[in-house]
Amino acid sequence: MKLLVFGANGQIGRELCRAARPPGCDLVPLARARADIGDALAVAAAIGTERPDLVLNLAAYTAVDRAESEAEEAWRVNCEGARLIALACRRSGTPLIQLSTDYVFDGEKREPYREDDRVHPLGVYGASKEAGEAAVRALLPEHVILRTAWVFSPFGANFLKTVLRLARGEKPLRIVADQIGSPTPAAAIAAALVAIARAIAEDRAEWGTFHFAGMPPASWHGFAEAILDIAAPRLGRRPLLAAIATSDYPTPARRPANSVLDCGKIAAAFALSQPSWREGLAATIGEILDREAEAGGRG
Ligand SMILES: NC(=O)c1ccc[n+]([C@@H]2O[C@H](COP(=O)([O-])OP(=O)(O)OC[C@H]3O[C@@H](n4cnc5c(N)ncnc54)[C@H](OP(=O)(O)O)[C@@H]3O)[C@@H](O)[C@H]2O)c1
Repeated sequence: MKLLVFGANGQIGRELCRAARPPGCDLVPLARARADIGDALAVAAAIGTERPDLVLNLAAYTAVDRAESEAEEAWRVNCEGARLIALACRRSGTPLIQLSTDYVFDGEKREPYREDDRVHPLGVYGASKEAGEAAVRALLPEHVILRTAWVFSPFGANFLKTVLRLARGEKPLRIVADQIGSPTPAAAIAAALVAIARAIAEDRAEWGTFHFAGMPPASWHGFAEAILDIAAPRLGRRPLLAAIATSDYPTPARRPANSVLDCGKIAAAFALSQPSWREGLAATIGEILDREAEAGGRG
């Protein structure tokens, strides 16, 4: 089986590239420089040339706040890019796994969100991702839309890396405690993608929209506390951590107060259980600090 991966240089893409795959499962990674997903010709050429058995779209405009002032680019990548990939997949008869986000929800629900709950994004990022989902659904029945959340990894930009950087500074950390979500290791998402690809190859896949995210639910403040618990001994310091309200930390984009994802559907369809984000956290922090120590040693 040949997997063609758009967005291979992102957090999830880089974990997927190093994830264990079954024998005979080949992966063709495409970074933005080789295929801009907003470019119809580039997308069609990549799929036409590689003739994959499955396409994975991990490419996205993910800067949630910046999207508010760069809406055109966010829509070009997250909506038009997803549409172009789905169109090329339809023409070539290739199934697609499209990544999406918990930010399609507005956070008004008290319980974890299910796949068929009403979507109502609060910002440009969520709206453009939701429109990308809709384009995929409209064009290509053979799709898996995988919504995930609060992704962390040793790669790219994420909350975990921000907390580690702030922890080295002098100031106390002030972190929002009234937004609840599902931190998720990118490595666990990569493993889930391999399992779904395998199910598709073996003709036992269920098409549709699924949630996959870590457990248990946490606030950004709780997540930061867990990061500091693990990192402080290696950093040799532990800054003060204050819980603040969303209203104390205004951002360009509004975020849902609750975006916990119910992951029961994917457990039933693909036998994928929710990863414990705490377990993934120690390994990820260890890798980040090891890399930094190595780079420092070289410098
Ligand atoms: N990060 C999260 O917390 C989170 C939460 C929920 C859902 N998701 C979803 O999960 C998926 C993967 O996210 P991630 O965290 O891996 O994101 P990421 O680290 O920001 O990676 C996104 C990748 O997309 C690439 N890209 C951007 N514009 C592109 C374009 N026009 N054409 C081709 N590639 C382009 C970027 O290229 P460069 O490397 O050149 O910038 C980057 O490598 C996305 O669908 C995202 O919406 C992420």
